[in-house]
Amino acid sequence: MTALNKLKEVVRLFEQNGIEDAPKEAEILIAEVLDIDSSRLYSGDLEIQGSAIQQIDTFAARRVQGEPLQYIIGHVEFYGLKIHVGPGVLIPRPETELLVEETIKAMKNREELCVMGDELKDKDSLSLNSSLFTHHPSLSFHILDLCTGSGCIALALAKHFPEASVIGVDRSEAAMVYATQNAIENKVQNAHFRLGDLYGPVKGMTFDCIVSNPPYVRRDEIPTLQREVKDYEPVEALDGGADGLDFYRRILKEAPVYLEGGGLIILEIGYDQADDIKEIAAGAGLGDIVFLKDYAGIRRIMVGRSDNIRVARLPVS
Ligand SMILES: C[S@@+](CC[C@H](N)C(=O)[O-])C[C@H]1O[C@@H](n2cnc3c(N)ncnc32)[C@H](O)[C@@H]1O
Repeated sequence: MTALNKLKEVVRLFEQNGIEDAPKEAEILIAEVLDIDSSRLYSGDLEIQGSAIQQIDTFAARRVQGEPLQYIIGHVEFYGLKIHVGPGVLIPRPETELLVEETIKAMKNREELCVMGDELKDKDSLSLNSSLFTHHPSLSFHILDLCTGSGCIALALAKHFPEASVIGVDRSEAAMVYATQNAIENKVQNAHFRLGDLYGPVKGMTFDCIVSNPPYVRRDEIPTLQREVKDYEPVEALDGGADGLDFYRRILKEAPVYLEGGGLIILEIGYDQADDIKEIAAGAGLGDIVFLKDYAGIRRIMVGRSDNIRVARLPVS
């Protein structure tokens, strides 16, 4: 049998079972089993052996049952890194790459953060300006990634800033295993992972930047999610409490204690949470709160900063 014929067969099977992007998923699955670039599938002359056919059939059957493709093949690409995933760890989402991108911009740019939230409302995205890191001219920031999961955010930032030191924290032991393996496989030496509850493992430390993509789904919404998510991904990675905001309350309330003066906090948020989160962040004493929109125009990333810098700038009377 040729790989192309097998591809057509699997696409048909996926379509019949309502899998959304059937051609793409079938292509990725077969290319993974055959360990080839997916473009090779279309040559029409690539013959495949019985053992490969069996493996494809097993994988395809698991996918039809609802298991996410990324768990079946065991990895996903995230910000240019190959991130291993499996049961017990959330599959990194494309929108989280935006969090990484905006954090990189914010950390790189040392000019004054001069544009305030309300002026930014209609912008699709923003290159943050910040003069906040003048005490780290070598880009040797200290970054904390809360709820790190597979470590995708921590590793992408650590890879981008080799002089930075990044700590990722998660309460899940499975997450620790994946994050550590992902650091090794991506040859990232400046990111380390600690098991524990939010700030618990970093008590007494301070950071130039705190990032997080915490659980933020409203508890009563979880049963309505796609079966790939609700039946396979860990509920601890999704459940944000009754209103979805539990983690934002905890993270934002304690952020000023763990941020250097003027340090940034950058969070991924749910599609309808910006107004509530703005109030929580302001109540926690954070300043310069802005929201960045994703490609669908939804306010998806919150940026705030520790107010200490403003206190320092007040004219002495
Ligand atoms: C939405 S997932 C994000 C994972 C990863 N950062 C990403 O963006 O793909 C949230 C993560 O928070 C972790 N988590 C849940 N409760 C926690 C807690 N109290 N302290 C630390 N991590 C927690 C979960 O185990 C899960 O890995």
